[in-house]
Amino acid sequence: MAAMMIVDFQNCFIFILLCLFSLLCYTLFFRKQKKSRLGFDDLPPSPPSLPIIGHLHIILSLLIHKSLQKLASKYGPLLHLRIFNFPIVLVSSASVAEEIFKTQDVNVSSRSLPTSEGSLYFGSSGFIFAPYGDYWKFMKKLITTKLLGPQALERSRGIRGDEVKLFYSNLLDKAMRKERVDIGEEAMKLTNNSMCKILMGRVCVEDAEIVRGLAAKTDSLTKKLFLASVLRRPLEKLGISLFKKELMGVSSMFDEVLERYLVEHEKKQEEQGGDMMDVLIEAYRDENAEYKITRNHIKSSLVDLFIAGSEITSNSIEWTMAELINNPKSLEKLRGEIDLIVGKTRLIQETDLPNLPYLQAVMKEGLRLHPPAPLVVRTFQEGCEVKGFYIPEKTTLVVNGYAVMRDPDVWEDPEEFKPERFLASSRSEQEEDKTKVLRYIPFGSGRRGCPGSNLAYLFLGTAVGVMVQSFDWRIKEEKVNMDEVAGAASLSMAHPIHATPVVRIQNLLT
Ligand code: HEM
Repeated sequence: MAAMMIVDFQNCFIFILLCLFSLLCYTLFFRKQKKSRLGFDDLPPSPPSLPIIGHLHIILSLLIHKSLQKLASKYGPLLHLRIFNFPIVLVSSASVAEEIFKTQDVNVSSRSLPTSEGSLYFGSSGFIFAPYGDYWKFMKKLITTKLLGPQALERSRGIRGDEVKLFYSNLLDKAMRKERVDIGEEAMKLTNNSMCKILMGRVCVEDAEIVRGLAAKTDSLTKKLFLASVLRRPLEKLGISLFKKELMGVSSMFDEVLERYLVEHEKKQEEQGGDMMDVLIEAYRDENAEYKITRNHIKSSLVDLFIAGSEITSNSIEWTMAELINNPKSLEKLRGEIDLIVGKTRLIQETDLPNLPYLQAVMKEGLRLHPPAPLVVRTFQEGCEVKGFYIPEKTTLVVNGYAVMRDPDVWEDPEEFKPERFLASSRSEQEEDKTKVLRYIPFGSGRRGCPGSNLAYLFLGTAVGVMVQSFDWRIKEEKVNMDEVAGAASLSMAHPIHATPVVRIQNLLT
């Protein structure tokens, strides 16, 4: 009798466990979304999906931005996808992107990424991942006025000028020795060193190894970022953190270096106001500040700016050079413009850029075809209507900038490298009309758009300008291979350009 009761008790226990497990699966994966409070329930169209996982296989594909672009060209520019039961809205055309950024800007101004408590990078005190609120607003004001505003950029012009000269000298040295150059690597050194100096007033030479190692580690982490952002809700529900250990390792290394620099800066109080760390320390000490930032806020923001400023920008320098090497006519045209305006006796500098419209068009065209951050990920905080469809609250928004900037409805010959399209004088009337919609978004859009675009154009313009003005570029192959690297959320070249610089004009620094 006692034995029977035990068996029954065991069966009952297993039965209860099974019920609980089924309930968990049901709530996680199958529970229907709440009905629309707006009175209409039509979600955007959804392409065929697999049972349970939904469209997860598409999100996990190697070149996500391309798979999503293909999906959109087959099923439409506004789609509803799901990963298990968690909704994603995919936007792939200029007109839908425009409607969202114009009518829902505040509603989609949070990224809602799975931040990791205590980590400086991808952590809760960072700026890039901060929810739209008081802290973000305070930092945004500080960044756009005191850190990356016109006066701040003017103040740091000398630093960038020196680093560009160093960049040129390195290339000249390699040219003299007939050595091949990894253009991406040289560009990375330029942006890394410049950002270190702008942020902390130093070249980080003694910590160069750590900083370079950190940059490489964060690059690999950033590649997982998109995945983490779209999978956030299912992973959170299952209690899984994709890369917490890796993240905390990188974070503590950043913390060690930054804390040391911070203490040094605090000691030399009399020389304040020179670099971004000084500005942040000033805000940290200000008793009357609108928002009281902490030491961790300072360090996290510096990490954010360092990562956003160096890796993405050097990627775009490399892509633009690749397009120029593959399009000799554009390269010659650009060189002609630089020779005419800057001449052959001095090196191109930042103050020349406003007078070089073709160089500006080349930069824009490079970023249009190869946006280093092709997918903008945000979250709809509230349910709303877009193009007559209902978008439920907490839906993840993915704007495929890569698809928008190759949208054949608003770009003529979208796959071709044609910088002329950005010169107002050479645009047809039809093309002019198309420029009226929001179709150029390498820096995202709206209040959460990139605050570093002006600085990025300065880096890009001078680096590409120097390489075109001073050297011819020889490659072993007939053309640069333009394949994109598989699995990366930031768009890098699968085959970095290795080219030999050949001196065109004798030393421009003498
Ligand atoms: C070619 C270079 C660059 C590209 C293509 C680029 C692109 C982007 C994109 C697409 C976003 C997301 C925008 C959105 O959600 O709408 C972003 C955000 C951001 N970028 Fe850049 N960026 C570049 C350079 C820079 C530089 C040089 C800095 C500063 C040093 C910077 C700082 C930031 C910051 C702080 C954010 C987060 C803004 C926020 O969350 O409010 N970026 N960038």
